Amino acid sequence: MIELTNIDIVFQQKKEKIDAVKNVSLTIDKKDVYGIVGYSGAGKSSLVRVINYLQKPTNGTVVINGVDLGQLTAKELRRERKKIGMIFQHFNLMNARTIFDNVDFSLKYSGKSKKERTEKVNQLLELVGLSDKKAAYPSQLSGGQKQRVAIARALANDPEILLCDEATSALDPKTTIQILNLLRKLNQELDLTIVLITHEMQVVKEICNKVAVMESGQIIEKGASISIFSNPQEELTKDFIRTATHVDQTLETILSHPTLAELDSNELLVEFSYVGEQTSEPLISKLYSQYQVTTNILYGNVEIIQNTPIGSLIVILKGEAHQRKKALDYLHSQQVKTNIIKRNEPTEIIHLVGGKNNGSIY
Ligand SMILES: Nc1ncnc2c1ncn2[C@@H]1O[C@H](COP(=O)(O)OP(=O)(O)OP(=O)(O)O)[C@@H](O)[C@H]1O
Ligand SMILES: [Mg+2]
Repeated sequence: MIELTNIDIVFQQKKEKIDAVKNVSLTIDKKDVYGIVGYSGAGKSSLVRVINYLQKPTNGTVVINGVDLGQLTAKELRRERKKIGMIFQHFNLMNARTIFDNVDFSLKYSGKSKKERTEKVNQLLELVGLSDKKAAYPSQLSGGQKQRVAIARALANDPEILLCDEATSALDPKTTIQILNLLRKLNQELDLTIVLITHEMQVVKEICNKVAVMESGQIIEKGASISIFSNPQEELTKDFIRTATHVDQTLETILSHPTLAELDSNELLVEFSYVGEQTSEPLISKLYSQYQVTTNILYGNVEIIQNTPIGSLIVILKGEAHQRKKALDYLHSQQVKTNIIKRNEPTEIIHLVGGKNNGSIY
């Protein structure tokens, strides 16, 4: 377990004081894949670097499995650090050495014999799917392969924790998924705790069971990924999610399309969102049979977060105003959230993309 308590990180640059991290407390349980999301400069790297004390906090404590890193001697700290591996965006491999040697280098101070080390390196390269690249040099590998080498190297001393600082940011989407799949496998098979910094909610969606959102050195929202995705509270979190799920782009397309965006007087453009197995079909047929409100689906999407579906639909609802109200009340009673994007009366867009309307109205 990782316990960060009241962490401040202040950098002194010439006469300027930079508060990179402000009073952050965070608990990461064993086997969590914990995402830390935020825009550039939010303080993500600074915060994660205190976990292995590469960055000493200005204030606050870092306790890993009951050990307070701030209380350790340099030697004790080196020993604790071995339990924490780290990978980076740009891999940080030694270009003049083979893949085998890059991984072997991490075992230099492990106390293992040459034979044991060779066995361990072979095992690690097998684990990351690179057994055939032992003799190659980093320049001969693709980005995804380089990151696999970095992962093998980070795992050399059997760490309990792996810190990933933008580990997939330099990779294309397909390679990103492959690396995330590898991290998931390591999490499940080796019981590895993973802390993963990213600026993409897409990455969080793929593998994180928990997520914290950082802004200006603070954690503004944190929790289980499923509850953050299905019920984000902060504007920034909503922004990140909307970008990841492509709802924003779709809305823009719809709103700029003359025939789609044009509504009759008894029509509403609405976004529905719901969590769980429930499907929209019976609800939609009920809107018609009970309230004579028709639903024209313009866009539908289901995201699977931690095995739970989160659905979102963009629809045109058509019916008498009082019936539409009843229909929306009914949807709310079924835990479907609704967000009116555009109504005909008055003719204005009341929900701007990414805006503040939280959709409890009808
Ligand atoms: N060694 C340093 N000396 C001075 N200022 C620093 C140092 N490291 C980080 N900072 C500053 O601290 C703030 C937080 O930086 P940090 O690198 O933690 O952000 P980040 O969220 O990781 O950003 P990015 O997504 O760009 O990597 C920034 O304003 C940065 O300029
Ligand atoms: Mg960073």
